[in-house]
Amino acid sequence: MENRKDLIALINKFFDKKVVNIDDLIDDYYLRNETNLKRSECILVMNSFLRYAYEFDQIIDKCTIKKISKNNLIIKNILRMAMVELYILQRPSYAVIDSWVEISKQKKRTKPFSSFVNAVLRKIISEKSKIKISTQQKIPQWLWMSWKQDYGVDVANKITEASLTEPPLDIYCHKKTNLDNQFIEIEKNIFRKSKAGFVEDIEGFEKGQWWVQDISASIPAKLFSNIKDQKVLDLCSAPGGKAMQMISMGAKVTCVESSKQRVQLMKNNFTRLKFNPEIINKDILDWTSTKTFKYILLDAPCSATGTIRKHPDLIFLKNKNELGKYIKTQQTLLEKALSLLSTQGQLIYCVCSVQKNEGVKQIDHFLKKYKNIRREPVKKSEFTQFEKYITKDGDIQTFPYMKKPGGMDGFFISRLYKEY
Ligand SMILES: C[S@@+](CC[C@H](N)C(=O)[O-])C[C@H]1O[C@@H](n2cnc3c(N)ncnc32)[C@H](O)[C@@H]1O
Repeated sequence: MENRKDLIALINKFFDKKVVNIDDLIDDYYLRNETNLKRSECILVMNSFLRYAYEFDQIIDKCTIKKISKNNLIIKNILRMAMVELYILQRPSYAVIDSWVEISKQKKRTKPFSSFVNAVLRKIISEKSKIKISTQQKIPQWLWMSWKQDYGVDVANKITEASLTEPPLDIYCHKKTNLDNQFIEIEKNIFRKSKAGFVEDIEGFEKGQWWVQDISASIPAKLFSNIKDQKVLDLCSAPGGKAMQMISMGAKVTCVESSKQRVQLMKNNFTRLKFNPEIINKDILDWTSTKTFKYILLDAPCSATGTIRKHPDLIFLKNKNELGKYIKTQQTLLEKALSLLSTQGQLIYCVCSVQKNEGVKQIDHFLKKYKNIRREPVKKSEFTQFEKYITKDGDIQTFPYMKKPGGMDGFFISRLYKEY
């Protein structure tokens, strides 16, 4: 019962503001509370809750005559939480119903709804198998519509279904590691395990033999021609995955990152890996360099819609209006990157998004405006392993439904070349 109270308090806090990501809330919760609730269970419940909330809401709506008002989100959260227990954790229905009815009785605000909770949960149990929810209804409408507009109904549905599945764990091994047999090598140096668990417990973590990196996030750095012994400017660096990859490829990396907190996270990663790149904790737009760089990677802030599998809180944290903000920021950062790029230099632009506005349309717009830069199309002959992800323009677009089993993050990557 105590664990359930902690879980509902945590999710109510998330919905109270919808500004703090769930990982930060969980970290804060464990910092402030003594609890029996296992962290792994907490993460599983929170992620399942956020992943299936839209689908559960459709079922709840079909099992109630009375609509639950927006002000009564706390009751909806109790029902959603009970559904996580019933359908994800597969707990016995009598125990789940009893517990949540009991919890609803304990607060003045929820007490009048305890018999409602009881009735709705019983109805859900008897009706759920007969209720069909379309893929489109499992995610916010604006998001599904944006994917439909960009790629059509079939792809929009495939992105949605894949975005709502639990992702595997991919790690990039820079040193030989004695991994257990749950890991399989899915590409050179990249190993995949179907369930993440606690990464700190995996062999080689303390020794700095690997870092967590989705297979698609490892593509951008590979597109540079040859960065061994070369200086590379890594713009928007934290938490440092791509920087570590480029260092392990032999590059001399300069990282620029604006967030102080994320710089600390990145420094911890570098210390663990025994890497020591130059780090500049500044907003790129306020930073100037006397020299230009032949190789620049810009991993721009974005809507992150390619990573919903890993961060289901994005379903609630992002909205249509935010997209416009990101697009403007990406434009400014691209222009700044161009000013720091040497003539005949390569600029790799990437975003962990599947929105065309942040990807191909962003680059098309940029190339129209600046005639001294062009695409350097990625060729199938260069990277046979990425063949399926290369677009007609020679960019890379991955989707969460690719690289089965397990999928991959959605990423857009464009390789650009400065002619003069
Ligand atoms: C997508 S993440 C980068 C991930 C990183 N490249 C990696 O591989 O681990 C984007 C990062 O850009 C940073 N950022 C956003 N705007 C920035 C700016 N104007 N100047 C510097 N960093 C910025 C954010 O704080 C965030 O850490």
